[in-house]
Amino acid sequence: MSADFLVYGSYGFTGSLAVEQALSRGLSPMLAGRRAEPVERQATEFDCPHRVFSLEHPTVIADQLDDVDVLLNCAGPFSSTAEPLVSACLATGTDYIDVTGEYEVIDRIADLDRDAEQAGVTLLPGVGFDVVPSDCLAASIAGELPEATTLELAIDGGTTISQGTAKALVEGLGSPGAIRQDGRIEHVPVASKRRQIDFGDGPKPTMTIPWGDLVTAYHSTGIGDIEVYTAVPGPAITVMRRTRPLGPVLRAQPVQRLLKRLVEATVTGPSAEQRAENVCHVWGRVSNEDGDSVTGRLRTPDPYETTRLTTVEAVSRLLDDSVSSGFQTPATAFGAGFATEFDEIERIDRD
Ligand SMILES: NC(=O)c1ccc[n+]([C@@H]2O[C@H](COP(=O)([O-])OP(=O)(O)OC[C@H]3O[C@@H](n4cnc5c(N)ncnc54)[C@H](OP(=O)(O)O)[C@@H]3O)[C@@H](O)[C@H]2O)c1
Repeated sequence: MSADFLVYGSYGFTGSLAVEQALSRGLSPMLAGRRAEPVERQATEFDCPHRVFSLEHPTVIADQLDDVDVLLNCAGPFSSTAEPLVSACLATGTDYIDVTGEYEVIDRIADLDRDAEQAGVTLLPGVGFDVVPSDCLAASIAGELPEATTLELAIDGGTTISQGTAKALVEGLGSPGAIRQDGRIEHVPVASKRRQIDFGDGPKPTMTIPWGDLVTAYHSTGIGDIEVYTAVPGPAITVMRRTRPLGPVLRAQPVQRLLKRLVEATVTGPSAEQRAENVCHVWGRVSNEDGDSVTGRLRTPDPYETTRLTTVEAVSRLLDDSVSSGFQTPATAFGAGFATEFDEIERIDRD
């Protein structure tokens, strides 16, 4: 059976949400992952076709994607999964979407823009909570101040975290922070800048983080100076700064393996109730050299609920063949208004 749309990592937390959302919209996903037992269990539960393949052998992946129109990659951390799947998509003419927020992964995919155009393939990473709302907000406020030279974005993602996200955070431990300066990504110390940002409910402490927007917002807005902040309790920022000297230890493979096992043993959910209660905010500001600025804020559902909505809508638009080939961001693919086309995502002010 050929597949319009294959979800790789379908039995992971985020993959499962995307599969349920796709089915609720009448789409017919092919389920896939590297372990037979969970894929088969999920395929039986939802009466879906399925494939089992690992990402170890390029020819095997290409054989499995040869008849697939759109691949949604939900298997993270994406530092291990994006490259083999993107390569196979370029070889088979399959459009590629993922939910990564890892800026280095997105940067490597952006470098394949010309290859993707030649192959007639769309490469669209970051169609989850990170980065759909922030990317669309950035493009939107940049459109309101066309001569803007700096962009600041900030995310208040609330309280929920899944195993996969926790593992991606573990992979980032001990690595430097990053900002974009004069169009180039520059490495800076972890939490190099801290400031108070008002997401709509009064000022909250935030610190710089090396998120996907450092790449996507650059492509969506053309602005060369970009900083991304996240809301974190003030004491946590101090702890992050104090652990800077531990970088090499935290990056060591045995420590990484241990921390990931700890994540597997302790992180569950977030449950449907926790997701329903969680509300998130995204803040953005563009400024020009005259000191003019435009600020915008979005309110969104929980990150995993947002991701469920945005990924499946992105898949559906790619299946309609309405997106140009090459590297795309959510805003370049679907327009700055994409995020607020969802009833659940709201622009809450325009000061
Ligand atoms: N951008 C966003 O807003 C957003 C939102 C949600 C999630 N995410 C990201 O999505 C990723 C998944 O999160 P999750 O909570 O769904 O994690 P999860 O429940 O742990 O699921 C991860 C899935 O990926 C598979 N996988 C991992 N490494 C693999 C590899 N090397 N080869 C093949 N399959 C592999 C796992 O298979 P096994 O079980 O067989 O290992 C599992 O199916 C994370 O990186 C997370 O940060 C991003």
